Amino acid sequence: MERTLSLIKPDAVFRNLTGAINSRFEQAGLRIIAQKRLLLTKSQAEKFYEIHRERAFYGSLCGYMSSAPIVAQILCGKNAVSKNRELMGATNPANAEIGTIRRDFGEGVERNAVHGSDSLENAVLEIGFFFSELEIIE
Ligand code: RTP
Ligand code: MG
Repeated sequence: MERTLSLIKPDAVFRNLTGAINSRFEQAGLRIIAQKRLLLTKSQAEKFYEIHRERAFYGSLCGYMSSAPIVAQILCGKNAVSKNRELMGATNPANAEIGTIRRDFGEGVERNAVHGSDSLENAVLEIGFFFSELEIIE
């Protein structure tokens, strides 16, 4: 069993797509074992996306991710990291496979509905950024 961090980004939360997106995870056998709604500060978003600091889109991404509420959650299941990435689809919704979350719900390369940890190692770090062990109920 693996755990991975999932974020429902501001564009999707604002359009009331939280339930539609989470039904995809649950139908695929992933369990939501922790969940919270929050509004990141700009500096919290900058810290979360630290690995992208040098990228051209970093400033815009951090501004966007702190512009409106997000939902942070932990998905648990067999191969949760890769299963979540598969369900999400490619970063740019225009390139994502039909039937993926980003293809069906994303508005653009930045406003792409969801975030998912890209490795087990990053999942541990990202889960620790948002949740304490006390908040995780398997
Ligand atoms: P994520 O981290 O959100 O799960 O997405 P990802 O691995 O597919 O994409 P990554 O390369 O890690 O980029 C993180 C987020 O930055 C925004 N982005 N904007 N304007 C652009 O060219 C651009 N490229 C990436 C997206 O919101 C992406 O999810
Ligand atoms: Mg990423």
